[in-house]
Amino acid sequence: MRRILVTSALPYANGPLHFGHILEAVQTDIWVRFMRLAGHECVYVCADDTHGTPMMLKAQAEGITPEALIAGVAAEHRATYAGFLIGHDFFHSTHSAENREMTERVFRALDAAGYIARRTIRQAYDAEAQMFLPDRYVKGTCPRCGAKDQYGDSCEVCGATYTPAELIDPISVVSGTRPVERESEHLFFRLGAFEGMLREWTRAGTIDASVANKLDEWFDAGLRDWDISRDAPYFGFEIPGHPGKYFYVWLDAPIGYMGASLALARRDGLDFDGWWAPGSTAELHHFIGKDILYFHTLFWPAMLTGAGFRRPTAVHTHGFLTVNGQKMSKSRGTFITGARYLERLPPEPLRYYFAAKLTPGVDDMDLSLDDFVSRFNADVVGKLVNIASRCAGFIARGGGRLAARLPEPELYAEFAAAGTRIGALYEGCDFAAAIREIAALADRANQYIDLHKPWNLAKDPARAAEALAVCTQGINLFRVLMTFLAPVLPAMAARAAAFLGQPIRDWNGIATPLLDAPLAAYEPLATRLDPKVVATLVEPEAAPPPAAPAPAPAEPAKPAGTAVAKGGAAAPPAPPAEITIEDLAKVDLRVARVLAAEPVEGSDKLLRLTVDLGAETRTIFAGIKGAYEPAALVGRHVVVVANLKPRKMRFGTSQGMVLAASGEGPGVFVVSPDAGGAAGMVVK
Ligand code: MSP
Ligand code: ZN
Repeated sequence: MRRILVTSALPYANGPLHFGHILEAVQTDIWVRFMRLAGHECVYVCADDTHGTPMMLKAQAEGITPEALIAGVAAEHRATYAGFLIGHDFFHSTHSAENREMTERVFRALDAAGYIARRTIRQAYDAEAQMFLPDRYVKGTCPRCGAKDQYGDSCEVCGATYTPAELIDPISVVSGTRPVERESEHLFFRLGAFEGMLREWTRAGTIDASVANKLDEWFDAGLRDWDISRDAPYFGFEIPGHPGKYFYVWLDAPIGYMGASLALARRDGLDFDGWWAPGSTAELHHFIGKDILYFHTLFWPAMLTGAGFRRPTAVHTHGFLTVNGQKMSKSRGTFITGARYLERLPPEPLRYYFAAKLTPGVDDMDLSLDDFVSRFNADVVGKLVNIASRCAGFIARGGGRLAARLPEPELYAEFAAAGTRIGALYEGCDFAAAIREIAALADRANQYIDLHKPWNLAKDPARAAEALAVCTQGINLFRVLMTFLAPVLPAMAARAAAFLGQPIRDWNGIATPLLDAPLAAYEPLATRLDPKVVATLVEPEAAPPPAAPAPAPAEPAKPAGTAVAKGGAAAPPAPPAEITIEDLAKVDLRVARVLAAEPVEGSDKLLRLTVDLGAETRTIFAGIKGAYEPAALVGRHVVVVANLKPRKMRFGTSQGMVLAASGEGPGVFVVSPDAGGAAGMVVK
């Protein structure tokens, strides 16, 4: 029995889980379930990745503490993972006592061993927001091609890379002001000291050959010191002995694997050092996407080594998921969240489809909704379930008991023997090949039944025993196939086990067939996917793109305060996604009278409105400065969303939203009631 610790990458705690996250969790979960069936002790941990500037700013924008933000997200993440049958032994948070303990331990060990350097750097600083700016929080004109509105690290138009200081007319995404350069002392991890070890480790079977070349490129480019500190304000762990300095999120994120396993070990009395001590005989397997390879194959093994821990056994790296041939994107409606899927469909069809796509390599995978429907309906319902449902009825009629011997034991033996090959494919992460083998066997099982036609045999009372024998063979072939698919379809396997009267707990449980045993009443094991429901996974109409498209984890603040209804005669507007009457009922629309309106210092879009809602007075920031003289608004009646969560902005808190319309052309038009409308009236 092998002792194995397994992880998936830690999802960021600033948004919902999407299909990319689900793909990775399903991949890991299938591997873990297989290894357990194969008799190994396999522990699976994960956590939310909670620290960093984007978390801090997102919490600020929502007017809540980062702790409240990550607590809400953690609850959603847990529910979504559970919905997809992801069997974490522990799902933790990087903002935990255990992770702080491990992060400090790793840092102290690296520092004591001389792997931490101190150096002063110059960085963009937002004097208004009083914070240093990550490159992605500075925008400006590309110094090479002159494209406007480019991020501070690279140009999306010409591909140039540069520093924020090189941008022409840079502005801070946080405050809209021009950043200055400021010096600060930072701590660096001496990655270069580990080059020899890393070159060896990456060639020791730890990574798939398809990513080895990428690593060679990095080695050839030279391993530079890595900046592991950030200045306050920062949401993270303060560095011991360095007040005002925080660990960079990517330092404590992989240590989160240790933090989660420490929490599990303490809860269940397991041996933490057995997993992490140098020379440990346990295995450590990470599952990640190709975008975070650098962190997991260079920084992480180097940190572990420098701090006196063991190195990972393997880093299993997958490619990216696309939807209907396109990058997942909110504006195209192809950004599918796990929660959206679970509102409509059961988890196992998607698990099956992802399994059918996953290989050990890093090629991207496409989720085509049509292919998804036909694969599941054809393979699982049409072939696999069909075997059981065709045979169950005849056995029930024949007394509900399997025959005492198989008519074709060689065929059964052949099926059972495939377990060795299929098991090796699972272990090697070639789930696609495993699924192909299983589907081919399902075809053979159906051919066997078609050939012997139990429905004809059953018509002749003299041949009833033959019909029972054929169906006993069929049910046994089904049992083998269901065992092979148990890592992918655990709930269905449990239903099948109830029907067979025997749990599926052991990969080798199929060595002997199930004979002379009672079968429980057959209940449908799976239902067909309805293509009409599947089509609603992608939003029929693209949602409007966010104000500032952010490919980085950064979420730049969006102008708030005005809901602009896009419309106009020239170009027909894209209707927004359908909502129900219940959704609409949640919106409290009220007539309000504008008591005061004034421009907001430092903003070229916003007006600060003081409005009378009948029973109360509120402050609302509205992005209508370009369209209205403030004085012209005073005394007017407008329509506001009265129950919008207050939004903290740089200039103050906005307590609602003023409705306005705009089209393709210039102009923004505030929505007002006819004469007779008065403050406090409900808009229906
Ligand atoms: N928080 C870091 C990981 C820290 S691990 C110590 C992070 N988070 S993430 O939420 O952006 O991504 C989590 C995982 O999901 C990563 O492995 C990433 O590769 C994977 N995916 C994110 N989008 C994906 C697709 N579209 N397709 C497949 N996997 C993708 O990175
Ligand atoms: Zn450019």
